[in-house]
Amino acid sequence: MSRFSPTAILRNGLRFLFPVAMALTAYLYLYPVLNSCAFPLPPTAPDHNADTGRAAFLEAAKRHWPFTETENSTDTTSRPPAPFRLLALGDPQLEGDTSIPIDYLGIFPHVKSLFKHVTFRSHHDVLRHRVRASLHDVVDIFFEDVYNLAESLRKRIDLFGNDFYLAHIYRTLHWWTLPTHVTVLGDLVGSQWLDDSEFFRRADRYWNRVFRGGERVPDDAALYPADEYDLSGYLGAANNSVWTRRIINVAGNHDIGYAGDINEDRISRFEDAFGKLNYELRFELPISPALAPAVFNEATNPHSTRLVPELRIVVLNDMNLDTPAASTALQDATYAFINKVINTAAAVEFTGHFTLVLTHVPLYKPPGVCVDDPLFEFHDHDGSLREQNQLSAPASRGFLEGILGMSGDVNAPGKGRGRRGVVLNGHDHEGCDTWHYVNQSRPVEGENEWEVKRWRQAVRGGIVGREELPGVREITVRSMMGDFGGNAGLLSIWFDETAWEWRVEYATCPLGTQHLWWTVHILDLLVVLGGLLSVVAAVLGVVGINVDRILIGATVGLWRLIRGRSAAVPAVQVKKVPS
Ligand SMILES: *[C@@H]1O[C@H](CO)[C@@H](O)[C@H](O)[C@H]1NC(C)=O
Repeated sequence: MSRFSPTAILRNGLRFLFPVAMALTAYLYLYPVLNSCAFPLPPTAPDHNADTGRAAFLEAAKRHWPFTETENSTDTTSRPPAPFRLLALGDPQLEGDTSIPIDYLGIFPHVKSLFKHVTFRSHHDVLRHRVRASLHDVVDIFFEDVYNLAESLRKRIDLFGNDFYLAHIYRTLHWWTLPTHVTVLGDLVGSQWLDDSEFFRRADRYWNRVFRGGERVPDDAALYPADEYDLSGYLGAANNSVWTRRIINVAGNHDIGYAGDINEDRISRFEDAFGKLNYELRFELPISPALAPAVFNEATNPHSTRLVPELRIVVLNDMNLDTPAASTALQDATYAFINKVINTAAAVEFTGHFTLVLTHVPLYKPPGVCVDDPLFEFHDHDGSLREQNQLSAPASRGFLEGILGMSGDVNAPGKGRGRRGVVLNGHDHEGCDTWHYVNQSRPVEGENEWEVKRWRQAVRGGIVGREELPGVREITVRSMMGDFGGNAGLLSIWFDETAWEWRVEYATCPLGTQHLWWTVHILDLLVVLGGLLSVVAAVLGVVGINVDRILIGATVGLWRLIRGRSAAVPAVQVKKVPS
């Protein structure tokens, strides 16, 4: 058989494509492993930094090794992971029918209208107009309808692949990094203007395709802040495993709108599909009995400022903080919730509690700090808030001085140092990691100004953790959409028993664009089909049917048919076909 026979070309092609397809498939399905992704690992000594690199990765790998015992292992060489590991995903923004032309225009609408014109079912006074309208429709069939159909098919395939691409990120990272909690930081769907049926169709795709296996936080577990509360669970134990499947959804502007769009209907359908808008969760970290005597107890140890370690998660809809809002009643409800969060927090003098705020719109920053600069737009019809890139400076101050209880005044309770915490959000797609702080030694009239720096810059500048510069880290998680590299955030929070404080570290794990996902699956499909064809050809060969001869014969026959009998395809050439 010749090297250039069809089956030989197929075999040689496969010989080349198979290893490429295998390598790319391995990369796609093992990307967190090959990129050394892992939750940051608490340091071995309190004054060290957390490990985000190799050590963290090796510990993560150990937990996948089938012969190591996890969590309560007696193996002294393995280091315990952070008791709270949050897989944080930003802005999946599921698109749908609003981006598919044939869904809102119909298929070949101009054929229908052409039919009306030529069958005299449309109204025209003179024939000239009828002919003219008909010819217009003929043009539009080709230049509009055909284009729209092709575009709709492309978009539908694109949407289908995109759901699986996002699902791949969630599933693969959840498997490899073993988070204790998962959050999606708003903009779960792509538009607040959807009608109800499309909204619930996308919610269905969200739960059954993208976050398959995930569950919404049950309403009775999403608590309104109160002085006496039930714990949502314990950290560092296996018995809170129900939380590894739950997805803590945050509402985004594309889900319920900005302050100028938020209304009862949009809120209620969001809460039906994805869970409550505003709530809190409180997780306790059990401490070893040896440390218990040092903990505050009204009766036995009233002078201690150490509380039993607790992580408080505040889920907040912050699209309704700035004005003017369409519904002041709903805005008042949001502020009532925040006030309740503040009033039920431990006094700032105590240590051991930590507040993790999960919200959508980032805090205020002057232009140039992150990619998105401050932006406010208002509706023409009623002047209500139409769009914002960030919260206003006063709303941000409410976060920092209210929820976290920090102050620019050193004489404020707890020296104005506030409560420990971290703020996580999405919205801007690009991502940003910042440190908000207030300089208590700056002489000012009235209120002290809040300042903000990029996190790395603040660390290098020695601003983080200084007594007179109380502050908080705000992490804006880069979007998980393909255009932003399929990013995911890995947030570790652990307890430092020496300082009696919680500590935080953050890492990211991008997959790469959606084109990689498509390329791998198309290539795999080609290899499988090629392999099948190859097998079929070989089997036919065994039973005496020469596929090459048939194929070449058929090609030559076709060639003759096209060129006509007189054309010069010498019969001799057919006899030369190798067999
Ligand atoms: C804080 O303010 C003081 C007094 O104005 C100033 O000397 C110091 O450099 C400021 N620190 C920072 C980090 O901005």
